[in-house]
Amino acid sequence: MQWSHAASTQAIRVAKLRCEYLAEPCAVDVARPRLGWVLEGADPSARGIRQAAYQIRAASSEEALLAGRADLWDSGRVDSDETLHIEYAGKALAPGQECWWQVTVFGRDGRFAATSRPSRWTAGILEPSNWKAEWIGLKAPPVAAGAGAPAAFLRSEFTLEKPVRRAWVHAAALGNYELRLNGKKVGRDFFAPGYTDYRKTLYYQTHDVTGLLNEGPNAIGAMLADGWYAGYIGWKGRRGVFGEQPLFSAQLEIEHADGTRRRITTGSGWKGAFGPILEADHLMGCVHDARKEMPGWDAAGFSEAAWQPVITGEKPAARLTAFPGEPVRKTQELETRSVSEPKPGVFVFDLGQNMVGWARLKITGTPGQKVVLRFAEMLNDDGTLYTANLRSARATDTFFLKGGGEELLEPSFTFHGFRYVEVTGLAAGSKPEASMITGIVVHSDLSRTGSFECSHPMVNQLFSNIVWGMRGNYLDIPTDCPQRDERMGWMGDAQAFVRTGACLMDIAPFFTKWMVDVEDAQGGDGAFTDVAPRGILDGAGVAGWADAGVVCPWTIYQVYGDKRILERHYAAMSRWIDYMEKTGKDLIRPDSGYGDWLAPFAKDNKGDTPKPLLGTAYFAYSTDLMARTARVLGKHEDAARFEALAAKVREAFNREFVSPDGTVKGESQTAYIMALRFRLVPDALRPALEKRLVEQIEARGWHLATGFLGVNLLMPTLTEIGRDDVAYRLLENTTYPSWGYSIVNGATTIWERWNSYTKDKGFGDVGMNSFNHYAYGSVGEWMFSSLAGIDTDGPGFRRIVIHPRPGGSVKFAKASYDSIHGPVSTEWRLEEKRFTLKAVIPCNTTATVHVPAGSPDAVTEGGRPASTAAGVEFLRMESGKAVFAVGSGRYEFESR
Ligand code: BGC
Repeated sequence: MQWSHAASTQAIRVAKLRCEYLAEPCAVDVARPRLGWVLEGADPSARGIRQAAYQIRAASSEEALLAGRADLWDSGRVDSDETLHIEYAGKALAPGQECWWQVTVFGRDGRFAATSRPSRWTAGILEPSNWKAEWIGLKAPPVAAGAGAPAAFLRSEFTLEKPVRRAWVHAAALGNYELRLNGKKVGRDFFAPGYTDYRKTLYYQTHDVTGLLNEGPNAIGAMLADGWYAGYIGWKGRRGVFGEQPLFSAQLEIEHADGTRRRITTGSGWKGAFGPILEADHLMGCVHDARKEMPGWDAAGFSEAAWQPVITGEKPAARLTAFPGEPVRKTQELETRSVSEPKPGVFVFDLGQNMVGWARLKITGTPGQKVVLRFAEMLNDDGTLYTANLRSARATDTFFLKGGGEELLEPSFTFHGFRYVEVTGLAAGSKPEASMITGIVVHSDLSRTGSFECSHPMVNQLFSNIVWGMRGNYLDIPTDCPQRDERMGWMGDAQAFVRTGACLMDIAPFFTKWMVDVEDAQGGDGAFTDVAPRGILDGAGVAGWADAGVVCPWTIYQVYGDKRILERHYAAMSRWIDYMEKTGKDLIRPDSGYGDWLAPFAKDNKGDTPKPLLGTAYFAYSTDLMARTARVLGKHEDAARFEALAAKVREAFNREFVSPDGTVKGESQTAYIMALRFRLVPDALRPALEKRLVEQIEARGWHLATGFLGVNLLMPTLTEIGRDDVAYRLLENTTYPSWGYSIVNGATTIWERWNSYTKDKGFGDVGMNSFNHYAYGSVGEWMFSSLAGIDTDGPGFRRIVIHPRPGGSVKFAKASYDSIHGPVSTEWRLEEKRFTLKAVIPCNTTATVHVPAGSPDAVTEGGRPASTAAGVEFLRMESGKAVFAVGSGRYEFESR
């Protein structure tokens, strides 16, 4: 490889300093937090930028760091090209201590040296025993069946005699809380502290509140509602699954300018009241009586005369630790597109997009006027809301107006999945403006990493539907659906979608958190569950669902190079493999489970792929991933044991399900897909299976017939067997069943069923018919890896594969992916016989670039023969493509 720019000095920026994946986290309870950064080349023409060494310096203050006093840690110069997951190895931090750090990176042979700006993280409480605050609440009143409980308001005042240098507050709840300080909401989080199995793990959130405190009197307050802890979860009409009495706890830590410290905590001296929020429940909705609002309740000087003493509860037994992810936040507002009046006085607002969150009501009315908002994803033919699919979720927000001017009202502690909002209770004869209703979109606020666009409008709509499906269903945990009385952490759905999710957003912190839920849920026998957190459902050990316990951490390792998630869950992962080994019969998994859930053309919801086959295929696959996990962690004995087991399971699979002519039992598309994708059959037999898979698709008139387990494997398998032509045919289909079918029928999200709605037959089986279920959106990973051609080769996008595969009627595609090493992008175009490909490769990585061409000589880069271009090396010809090796930089390939 020639590096023509190599001699010159390279201009480099060190950006995106992260600690445990987060930018400047306020509370880190991890003993040896991992640090990372991204190198950015300032000169767009520079190529092959690589780090040769780094030096991290850490100090107890920014001033000390900038003055060169690294009093916490100086790594010294470390010869390494690592930029990720570098463990802090400095002095142990005290609870709440700030660690300021910066890194200097060095290029080879003095090509560059660049120092980052200072960044910091703050230690959390580190040990649960450092949580001194009491757990307080208001005695939960009795609640009628189908109704929600009121939210409690809690408050206390304190006076600060001296100026504040720094202050931070930790808060947690059994329930959901919103924290207030001196009249302002603290942070932008919703539904804190998040959804966990509260019997085992409980999170607290931390906010820097230095700027919110006053010298003199101050007030701290919280609103506390049932949340997942005590509210309705699932379809069994049950409240109080984890407990019935919501409790709140907070600890405000103040450092005065003179160095003294003060701690304010929740305790028996706090006062409480039930205020305007008469009901607040995730599934049922909110009832808000604006006449009962208590202006100033969260500010100093408020009269507490009507408030009662709080109750104190026992300290929860769960492990209390800093929330490791990104909170749920408002991320967007949607304006109403149109308003209709399907019945007199019933107004339906269309937001044009199926979304998750709630609606803000802007209204002028009379005191006590009752305005009711109902929500739906779809409309009946007569234009009224279709709500049957919500099942027992009331999903209704009721407001009693204060009167006397314009009011802006939002519900609290609830969320809905909807595109349409029905408003009733307006003054007779009124014709509301569209601006009366605004959609407030909320979800876990993960940073967006992937964008995609191509020449096919329907495929672009599909991409948008996938993104919206993810936004609606990554709400603290990965859920199946956001609207009906379910909204649970279904493991099968999560693992089918996880790789797609990783293309669209930075999901590492989200899965760091959820994997703890998964492990908390695991049974003593080693079976991973159907849902995590474990709540109202006890199912476990199901093929493709339980396997999320292995597939998800493996995927996080693949995408982010994160070994710690493997280490942390290694024991749990291997218990699952042991469980499968022990409970099968001659290594064949049982005839139970959800099968290839919701595959079309089948006799029931469980699809036509034999369940023992699916189970055994997943057994082999998870065991194979387990063996690789063991290798990655250097546990070679374990690895050998798992490799041998995986081989035996494959043998059993072949014996039981595969005929010598390559027929796979059940003859379903999914059966062939799994046998191929999981590499279960001998190589010699693969061509026979490949042929049969394509025949199965042809037999359906070139339609897919996959359910939740087959769908994410379908397109990558077709690409792998060299049948992109078939993949594109499926992608572009608009007839049933296909992705396009939902789109021509108006979908703006991914549907649960291939026929959740059809223009001729109407709504699908109402018992289970969500219009926002991301599983079938798992085609997104193929859109990135194959259509746009961006993928990782090995862990953490250190080595990248750029391999776009033009096909079907798609003539142009463009995608970018903000990898853990920095942005990767492709943009390809096919005109007549001319193919162009622009690619951007991040610093400190290498890539192989596959360009369709008859020979390497047919390819140019930047207008020169590619094999002579700077930083480009021809490797080989492979399946009609010229393959080049490149380092970081921008490239423009062209072939004729
Ligand atoms: C959920 C799913 C889940 C399935 C398992 C459904 O009720 O919505 O998405 O995976 O059950 O059977």
